[in-house]
Amino acid sequence: MSSHRVSFTYLSQEDLLEAGCFDLRMAMDVAEKTMLAYEEQRVLFPEKIVQILDPVAQDRINCLPATLLDEKICGAKWVSVFPRNPKRYDMQNLSAIFILSGIEKGFPLAVMEGTLASNMRVAAMGGIAAKYLARKDSRIIGFIGAGEQAKMHMLAMKVVRPSLKECRVAAKTIEEENQFIHELSPLLPDINFISVNTVARQAMVGADILVTATSAQAPLLKAEWMKPGAFYSHIGGWEDEYQVAQQCDKIVCDDWNTVTHRTQTLSRMYKDGLLSHSDIHADLHELVSSDKPGRESDDERIYFNAVGLAYVDVALALAMFKRAQSSGVGQLLSLQETMVFEHKDILSRIRL
Ligand SMILES: NC(=O)c1ccc[n+]([C@@H]2O[C@H](COP(=O)([O-])OP(=O)(O)OC[C@H]3O[C@@H](n4cnc5c(N)ncnc54)[C@H](O)[C@@H]3O)[C@@H](O)[C@H]2O)c1
Repeated sequence: MSSHRVSFTYLSQEDLLEAGCFDLRMAMDVAEKTMLAYEEQRVLFPEKIVQILDPVAQDRINCLPATLLDEKICGAKWVSVFPRNPKRYDMQNLSAIFILSGIEKGFPLAVMEGTLASNMRVAAMGGIAAKYLARKDSRIIGFIGAGEQAKMHMLAMKVVRPSLKECRVAAKTIEEENQFIHELSPLLPDINFISVNTVARQAMVGADILVTATSAQAPLLKAEWMKPGAFYSHIGGWEDEYQVAQQCDKIVCDDWNTVTHRTQTLSRMYKDGLLSHSDIHADLHELVSSDKPGRESDDERIYFNAVGLAYVDVALALAMFKRAQSSGVGQLLSLQETMVFEHKDILSRIRL
């Protein structure tokens, strides 16, 4: 008789780090390949399920599934976003877990820590956008927001634009700016980090790459701070005044259709009738597949907005799982030893 044992691999964040999965180059490669698979309709990508638990604070727990047909993997990210966590509990805003299942038998293959993959995916998408849209000689990067997304973004930007030499950071408090610098400067020793004492203007004026990654809902970034030739990566919700997008020569999204259903600055502009499909230059996958051009001149201002594509998260989680497996890390856990009625002691276990 065949075995009816079902097991899956459990991977903690420490397992993933040990296996070398904190690799933004890998994340960008995976994201680009998966965007091409999506274009070729080799990805199933249903709508995410959103549960808002506090409409004011926007505490939420969402479920984001996707299937990679070529890899024969169906996965889901179960992700919590609790914006008050850093202030209230000195804990991160976002936490996530992934489940990956095979689509031949349908059984789970892996359950894994997902905050790392999720944050890497956000940064990878920004990094890919910068690869196609930022000036090749970009030297100065400015941040408004110094949290987890901002840190990860900085690492991805340096991968695609090694010419970066100066990073200016503005946050709500000087302590957060210092924390950002304290954590990143050992990782990026050739970058000159500058805390701007919460004065956002100082972080942004003159920057070649501008990033907003805040939990604010306010027009923090002003159009006049963005110089010709600059590339802007918008990560949070409402973070910039409408004139920023209005003055840009190109607007690129990870997925414009999804943006229209969300609450980012571009989504607000769309709902207010100030932006339409014809104003959008491309979705990112169209740059990856060369269907549309990226940057075409040195003085274009370019705006990038990503709202998150769960199929990229699932693809990245799969790449991490494979790398962890080849490194031999993780724990194999049993889900069942056999099918329910095959248990020899079923008579003593059942409650009738
Ligand atoms: N686009 C995506 O795919 C994606 C994915 C995950 C998270 N996000 C969003 O990215 C944003 C940042 O997430 P995080 O995990 O880094 O959050 P975080 O809580 O770690 O950091 C938030 C940062 O915003 C700064 N901030 C808040 N108000 C500010 C203000 N008025 N002026 C200057 N700085 C201000 C804080 O000082 C802090 O540094 C959130 O809005 C989150 O929802 C987007």
